[in-house]
Amino acid sequence: MAQTEVVPAKPRVGRVADPCVMVIFGFSGDLTRRKLIPALYNLASQQLLSREFAIVGVARNPMSEDEVRSKVTEDFKQFASGTVDSDLWDWFIRRVHYINGDFDDAATYARLQDTLAKVDHDHGTHGNFFFYLATSPNYFGDIVERLSTVGLMKEDNSHWRRVIIEKPFGHDLDSAKALNQQLLRVADEHQIYRIDHYLGKETVQNILALRFANGIFEPIWNRRYIDHVQISVAETVGVEKRGGYYDHAGALRDMVPNHIMQLISLTAMEPPISFEANAVRDEQAKILHAIQPYSSEDVLSKTIRGQYGEGTVDGERMLAYRSEDGVPHDSRTETYVAMRVLIDNWRWAGVPFYLRTGKRLPGRNTHVVIQFRRAPFMLFRDTPVENMMPNQLVLHIQPEEGISLRFAAKTPGPAMQLGEVNMDFEYSDYFGQTPSTGYERLLHDCMIGDATLFQRADMVEAGWNIVNPVLDVWKALPPRNFPNYPSGTWGPKESEELMERDGRHWRNFEK
Ligand code: BG6
Repeated sequence: MAQTEVVPAKPRVGRVADPCVMVIFGFSGDLTRRKLIPALYNLASQQLLSREFAIVGVARNPMSEDEVRSKVTEDFKQFASGTVDSDLWDWFIRRVHYINGDFDDAATYARLQDTLAKVDHDHGTHGNFFFYLATSPNYFGDIVERLSTVGLMKEDNSHWRRVIIEKPFGHDLDSAKALNQQLLRVADEHQIYRIDHYLGKETVQNILALRFANGIFEPIWNRRYIDHVQISVAETVGVEKRGGYYDHAGALRDMVPNHIMQLISLTAMEPPISFEANAVRDEQAKILHAIQPYSSEDVLSKTIRGQYGEGTVDGERMLAYRSEDGVPHDSRTETYVAMRVLIDNWRWAGVPFYLRTGKRLPGRNTHVVIQFRRAPFMLFRDTPVENMMPNQLVLHIQPEEGISLRFAAKTPGPAMQLGEVNMDFEYSDYFGQTPSTGYERLLHDCMIGDATLFQRADMVEAGWNIVNPVLDVWKALPPRNFPNYPSGTWGPKESEELMERDGRHWRNFEK
């Protein structure tokens, strides 16, 4: 096959990925067109994708390879970020292959085997295959079993085989354990990459850099200096077109055991002995295991749930959750959750971590607020003590990516009066913007065999272990006051009360 020489748009930072074929189950879905294809193209443009690379899409619809390629090209025009190099795209699209079939039909896997043998030969991919399961979660275990039955999960010294599994990984502790067992019967843990797309975000990875590449933070990163931590994942969107899925999941399952647990474990973990995958994940897992399990009483006093009603977000009128497509008109599913948790270890004993996430809030903003203790006594008589805000370090995860530190400063004038100021740092001011979907790093890591940013079996189970008592109590005591917050507000009033009881307040960012 003739090959066009490609001039990379961006200089390469990092190692070129191994030659391989990426097989995408659920190829016709949203994730493929919005994230996976643009991410692979971005990797190619940064010269991080091997030249010996190919994609095999698997989905139900019968389509010829030519039809698939034109559809992928059309979609890409819509979702590409940054400028597109047409020569590079031509090179890329020639590597896209397709088979159709049901995921639970043995014939699909026989066809996949034949196609992979041919694609591997044509593109020189050294027999390295990874399977991305962008399907409904019901198929995860079955697909991996079937791949194993036809020998496609079998590794030897000359090639590797891996599988990337999307969330949700189970819908409670028992189902997550059962899925882990099913997978581990036919594959080894080192072949399984459980993805959490939050770990693909630069600023989430930057929590590690901030904490461990700077000498000044570590000595004060503990209970002696830190009063409490707030982790907020606020969204303005509602359930969009996912009412059918979401109504069975709810905010707790959708966001807490995965994304929020990643943020808490990176914020609270001990320094790892190296950046080797298991060294980092061991420390994260220890935090998840150290989170105090809730008793039933704790669930009642330390967790808050809410569901949005009608309201206005960004000047636009919004429907109530119960009026969204695919949602029953009497749904009791929560779209908001707030929790207070404690971490039982020497570093954090007695320091509350407040977590919240919700849909249809006034701002889209994910951040971690580290609030430090107040200065021990106040010398400044002209500034009432209650007006003095303690120092806060805010890690802004999205949409703005940056760090800000709030501290007190003298306001100009003859009197010794204090005001508060913020010192802000934005990543884009220093590093510019590289086109990114958030999936580039994760796909590249899988292609080089680095599992640091993926979840191990024990971590997924530990996340579920934390939320399971909440699921049980909430199921036994269905909410009676839903909807309990209008769209466009910061959630139910009980959430503010959860903080006020401790003499604290949420810090809200509208942008
Ligand atoms: C997904 C959840 O995992 O994360 C969605 O299922 C949520 O409900 C999304 O909206 C948030 O991701 P991001 O990257 O937009 O913060």
